Amino acid sequence: MALQAKMAVDRDFVIGRVDNRLYGSFIEHLGRAVYGGIYEPEHPLADSSGFRRDVLDMVKKLQVPIVRYPGGNFVSAYDWKDGIGPRDSRPSRLELAWRTVEPNLVGMNEFADWAKAAGTDVMWAINLGTQGMEDARQAIEYANHPGGSYWSDLRISHGYKEPHGIKTWCLGNEMDGPWQIGQKTAAEYGRAASEAAKAMRQVDPSIELVACGSSGLGMPTFAEWEATVLDLSYDQVDYLSLHQYYGNHEGDTPTFLARSLQMDEFIESVVAICDYVKAKKRSKKRIHLSFDEWNVWYHSNESDRKLDPWQIAPPQLEDVYNMEDALVVGCMLISLLKHADRVHIGCLAQLVNVIAPIMTENGGSAWAQSIYYPYLHASLFGRGQALVPLIRSPKYDTKEITDVPYLESVAVHREETGEITIFAVNRSLDEELLTEIDLRSFGTCSLIEHIVLDNPDLKAFNTAARPDTVLPRTGGSSTVDGSKVAASLPKASWNVIRLRTIS
Ligand code: AHR
Repeated sequence: MALQAKMAVDRDFVIGRVDNRLYGSFIEHLGRAVYGGIYEPEHPLADSSGFRRDVLDMVKKLQVPIVRYPGGNFVSAYDWKDGIGPRDSRPSRLELAWRTVEPNLVGMNEFADWAKAAGTDVMWAINLGTQGMEDARQAIEYANHPGGSYWSDLRISHGYKEPHGIKTWCLGNEMDGPWQIGQKTAAEYGRAASEAAKAMRQVDPSIELVACGSSGLGMPTFAEWEATVLDLSYDQVDYLSLHQYYGNHEGDTPTFLARSLQMDEFIESVVAICDYVKAKKRSKKRIHLSFDEWNVWYHSNESDRKLDPWQIAPPQLEDVYNMEDALVVGCMLISLLKHADRVHIGCLAQLVNVIAPIMTENGGSAWAQSIYYPYLHASLFGRGQALVPLIRSPKYDTKEITDVPYLESVAVHREETGEITIFAVNRSLDEELLTEIDLRSFGTCSLIEHIVLDNPDLKAFNTAARPDTVLPRTGGSSTVDGSKVAASLPKASWNVIRLRTIS
């Protein structure tokens, strides 16, 4: 017998307007993300700047609104000045975070060019590990000041008359992590971030700043770190960051699929901490969240340990994603949408080759991994107002997580086009889920399409030779009667039910 669930959404029960930046991504100088990923001048499809056009096309299809750069752990020992000026005088450096050699062939200007070509904005992370306020203020003067000062004139002399106008800046990366070059205590970081932020805003008051939260819910510093950092920087920053990766090392798929419930809890805890500091300070300002690293990451852990150090662009963190990973990514996207009132920035970590939806071969083809598809669908159809999902679903328990609803879902209403999109995952590995969706106040609706991503083999994945193994299809089973939708969600599936209001 099929499982049965009910869901109701109402146009007036709004979570919040989805900030387009929720569908951001991340490119770090790590592995083949930059060299062999976005940049490969010898590739037959490279443009005149050395950027791979096949990769650019796939990024453009995703409509990625913002890309965090240049790291990640990389940034904490990176000197941004190594990446500017004539290429032949740029130094090669030992890259300490990932123990490679960084040739500095791509830096701020080239990345800004790439972002422009990809139709995306840059989210620049400054180094608060080995550097501080002075380098940060120089970087923003170089990037954003129109001219007439040392650093802005230097940019102009490098061939970039127009400022890059980078609006969103991260104040370091994962500064609580013992793996971080220049790790700090919460008090050290809170002060450093606050002073860097002040100096940067003096140069360009229009910027938005992201302070580092703990590098994960599992960190012993979690919660106390957030409270202390915000206590010391509240007036200077706009966002607090969250990072989370999930894996299925134990081969326990029901638990793996339930991880997004922990993501919900993580987000809600960080919101509570932000609001605690707000209350403590009697502040009128609300801090929003930047979930600027999230994904599945575990497949490549073993092979990464075997790589020799000090190579240029070795194949690091090249997770090959399967069908069940796509379901987890879908659930994580739904989690972000369910908190769209507070999470304004999200960055799928990462974009190309490194734990990425897009893979490439050096000199060869580029293809979409399974996780490309839920990300694509959410980015294309998940813009507008996120609506509160009222869900009645059968549930299951795992050893670790209890009361896991089989149905994970959220709806987004795009008022301008009258479109409603339901994103839904059926977590059941054995049964279809018959779902009745009550659209109440929307009146009569019609079905545009029901997209399904599923595969009888949860471990199925795409490769260069077989890029279409995990591929979405239209023609999912949904019928609409007035404002009621009856949808059948196949077992272990990601669903996108697109509807149009017609009265
Ligand atoms: O995205 C890979 C790495 O994960 C990033 O460099 C770091 O910030 C996080 O630990």
